[in-house]
Amino acid sequence: MSEAKVVLYGASGYTGKMIAGQLAARGIPFIAAGRNAERLKAELANNPELAGAQYEVQGVACEVGPLTELFRGKLAVYNTVGPMMQLASPIVEAALAAGCHYFDSSGEQDWTAHCRVTWGNKFAAAKLTLIPCMSMMWASGDLASALVLETAGIDTLDILYVPLGSSPSVASTLSFLRMCCQPQLKLVNKELVEWPPATTFQAVAPGTHEVLTCLPWSGGAEPIWYQDHATVRNCKVLVSFGSPEHMERTAALTREFREKWADQPADVQERATNEMGHQMTTKEPPRDDPNISRTIVSCHGRGEMAHATAVLWGVRGYDQTGHIGAIVLQRVIAGQLRAHGFVPPSIAFGARALLQEWQDAGLVTAETIR
Ligand SMILES: NC(=O)c1ccc[n+]([C@@H]2O[C@H](COP(=O)([O-])OP(=O)(O)OC[C@H]3O[C@@H](n4cnc5c(N)ncnc54)[C@H](OP(=O)(O)O)[C@@H]3O)[C@@H](O)[C@H]2O)c1
Repeated sequence: MSEAKVVLYGASGYTGKMIAGQLAARGIPFIAAGRNAERLKAELANNPELAGAQYEVQGVACEVGPLTELFRGKLAVYNTVGPMMQLASPIVEAALAAGCHYFDSSGEQDWTAHCRVTWGNKFAAAKLTLIPCMSMMWASGDLASALVLETAGIDTLDILYVPLGSSPSVASTLSFLRMCCQPQLKLVNKELVEWPPATTFQAVAPGTHEVLTCLPWSGGAEPIWYQDHATVRNCKVLVSFGSPEHMERTAALTREFREKWADQPADVQERATNEMGHQMTTKEPPRDDPNISRTIVSCHGRGEMAHATAVLWGVRGYDQTGHIGAIVLQRVIAGQLRAHGFVPPSIAFGARALLQEWQDAGLVTAETIR
């Protein structure tokens, strides 16, 4: 019988392998699962970070029944199989049926909202925790927001991500294309309101002189997480990957998508963005290089008179996801999970605790300016 208390589903992928490496670095036994045992074994055997690690490979189809059997008796599952809106429902259903906490690496706003509405109350009733987007995008904005909300009277969160110098993985490309082509929401006076589609915006990031070209990039998980917050009324997220040409090209793609596909059924739309994505990214990217992979995530908080800004300066965006995936599983095992149901990372684990872990790993340093 395996000693592992946690399951990593999608361990053969780019992000899954990073989380596996971090579980190994922490000495945490885990089940490395995915749909294809042979591919899992090959991918993990090639990962030097896993030499001597305690993990058991399990090839299990992405279906509720077999996944429930896999998860039974475990504490938590972290899922990296995406796009989540296309693939992850059976994994959440199985986690709930087996009595496991569920986390994933998604960046998809509609998936986050779907999780909230479909399973939020069910996980809460079962005293289980459900957190999609336990990843660089969008946990960082939640953690920056939590620092800002330490100042009393803040009701408005204005969040900006500037992740530079990372190349997307295959599934990331599929996910981000569907995210940018679907309706993208911000919280305005407690209501979710759609951003104007296929439109770029301008923003200024701390520590940069250029005015950046941005997109909502799905709208982020933060407006969904903060929808029922006691004091937050407004929450918006913008993203710039630096180059204005790249951002304008993405906006043009979403315009093209709207003209051709927006009136089609959901499955046709999903196939369309997948086809676009498979043409764009065909192979796994190299690991992030800290000399070029730099991240800035800032949150300006405002109330009537109250104001505060939090900035997270970081490197290696994908590694931030690799670390936070392993950190939350480690914290669940250690009994450090503070909340159940559909909650943001800051409520489940404490913003300062998670930021300290990223800082100790040399990945993120955070500051608050009042
Ligand atoms: N928001 C963020 O900051 C952030 C950061 C990192 C990743 N992500 C998201 O995490 C997801 C995974 O990214 P990645 O970098 O790991 O991508 P990847 O390298 O392309 O890996 C995809 C993984 O999904 C599995 N998979 C694909 N189709 C499947 C299916 N139909 N059934 C079961 N498994 C399937 C693959 O298994 P096989 O090996 O068997 O093909 C592989 O393990 C993406 O949605 C990405 O957007 C988000």
